[in-house]
Amino acid sequence: MRIPDIAPGARVLALGHYQPANVVTNDDLARTIDTNDEWIQSRVGIKERRVAPAGESVEDMAAIAGGKALAASGLSPDDVDLVIVATCTLETQIPNAAAIVAHRLGITSPGAFDVNAACAGFCYALATASAAVRGGSARNVLVIGSEKLSQWVDWTDRSTAVIFADGAGAAVVGPAETPGIGPVVWGSAGDKSEAIQIQDRTTFLHQEGQTVFRWATTALHPVALEACERAGVDPSELSAFVPHQANLRIIEAIARKLGAEKAAVARDIVTAGNTSAASIPLALSRMLERGEVQSGGLALVLGFGAGLTYAGQVIEIP
Ligand code: UT7
Repeated sequence: MRIPDIAPGARVLALGHYQPANVVTNDDLARTIDTNDEWIQSRVGIKERRVAPAGESVEDMAAIAGGKALAASGLSPDDVDLVIVATCTLETQIPNAAAIVAHRLGITSPGAFDVNAACAGFCYALATASAAVRGGSARNVLVIGSEKLSQWVDWTDRSTAVIFADGAGAAVVGPAETPGIGPVVWGSAGDKSEAIQIQDRTTFLHQEGQTVFRWATTALHPVALEACERAGVDPSELSAFVPHQANLRIIEAIARKLGAEKAAVARDIVTAGNTSAASIPLALSRMLERGEVQSGGLALVLGFGAGLTYAGQVIEIP
């Protein structure tokens, strides 16, 4: 047996993102459910979020974000051998999103599969893409997080309606002489699987907020520290910390424990809401676009959510 052309490392070559045009503010929500701007901002940190219209699907948003990342990478569709879409909010179970998205982008006959690790999905997909490039299974991989939470949320349930939102973010992963994606630290807590669930197709997303909040603020900073350690990076060297955008209080609690004083902390939730698997690439792509982080810096990404699942790794910002 022979394993051809193993790359010494993999890195993120480029990012892209997409958000639906429709902005929904806290005051908009307070018109139909018993909530208010003060509660949402102080408990969750969200000011506004985007919600896709009926005709705009997970695949539509994924294709736009993926197309932007591909264009920014300078690669052609023919250079991509594998497309992975991280999502947990497809409207239908079959077919998967990845093959549809690849076809729309003119990527001819790539490997194509979806990853469902809920809000940790992008980090799982990124680790898989990195391994595929380093192992010689793909030259370049398009990784996309795309979610339409709005179609799985009960808009009369204030405990979830104010939190979740729609959007997509994407990354192109390719080979590198010097590794630009560190080892992933991933895991799960299946004993808490009932804390976030959509029980069947007749029900909506249910979340035991406090159970997940306690877990996120106690179990995840060791994961963040281990991801740094395994990449040989001291937290003080990080120029960005981009955790899943679930709650501003969770983001700030983990950031404090991480002690990454120089890192720009992603607070994309304020204007993007919680977009599950899309939140990390969406946040990082927007930070890069606004000039809040510089190309070449190190970012720690950390996904966590239903499962409960988690995954984090250090990456070089493209
Ligand atoms: O993305 C996947 C991972 N998910 C997470 O990481 C989510 C983790 N959990 C959280 O972020 C928080 O638990 C929530 C934002 C979901 C909820 O915040 P909380 O501070 O834990 O609030 P709570 O559920 O304990 O509710 C406190 C009070 C309750 O009223 P009483 O019982 O004290 O009278 C709720 O009924 O706030 C009430 N409440 C609201 N009030 C106004 C709940 N939702 C709302 C609302 N507006 N939208």
